[in-house]
Amino acid sequence: MTVAVGVVGSANVDLVVRCAALPRPGETVLGQEIERLPGGKGANQAVAAAALGASVTLFASLGDDSDGRWLGERLVARGVRLGVGRAAHAPTGVALITVEASGENTIVVAPGANAALDLVDADLGAFDVVVAQLEIGDGALREATRARRLVLNVAPARPVPPEVLAASAVVVANETEADALDLRALDHVVVTHGAEGAVHYRRGHEVARARPPRVTPVDTVGAGDAFCAAYAVRLAAGDDDETALRFAVTAGALATRARGAQGAVPTEQEVRAWLPRAS
Ligand code: RIB
Repeated sequence: MTVAVGVVGSANVDLVVRCAALPRPGETVLGQEIERLPGGKGANQAVAAAALGASVTLFASLGDDSDGRWLGERLVARGVRLGVGRAAHAPTGVALITVEASGENTIVVAPGANAALDLVDADLGAFDVVVAQLEIGDGALREATRARRLVLNVAPARPVPPEVLAASAVVVANETEADALDLRALDHVVVTHGAEGAVHYRRGHEVARARPPRVTPVDTVGAGDAFCAAYAVRLAAGDDDETALRFAVTAGALATRARGAQGAVPTEQEVRAWLPRAS
């Protein structure tokens, strides 16, 4: 069965510089040549879900500029359908990313057109699952609650309208994001812990836990996006909580094995081949 996934989120041009070690505040370090790669949490999740075999529509706001056209072409080439529209008066979003030798990274996003995303005409009820993140405005987040089942990835950390949290079937957060928001009263919360895996909580009580297979990371940018996409796809496909979690931690780990947020998103067959090494 092919799962229909709607993704509500950002699309950015990622400007990436690799360096030996991330600079500390106030420090300047020399890096390698700059790379220009497609990114944005929404676009990354859309590409990851499509690689896993889902039928994917991305609702994103691209600027009416060469960056926006470039991102749009890349998304279509990766099997992602584009939903609503272009922002007339704002540049396409840009993320400034540094990646150190260990694969660890820092990211600063200039949202640009992403902040203008408008979902008024989007038929979000048509999807088995809708995934959203926080690089878009609150208006679009509120519209996303029209989904039949909303998986909300609270990244990057920022305040979220309480009604959006309450309407989410599952909230996915990394440790920093979970600390920034009080999520304990929510029905389903999944907290990711990088290479240590992820834990599923129901109203604050642990109900499932999974550890990914060991891989040698090249670039961790986009690993969380691959995790979210995989989790949403498998939930919509009918997996139980624990099975979906194991699948998602494995997809997230495999996504770190090449450069770029979309450079190593795995197929379903690749994830299944690695699943016996997850725990
Ligand atoms: O999650 C990784 C993504 O965060 C990058 O692709 C960047 O664009 C920012 O949105």
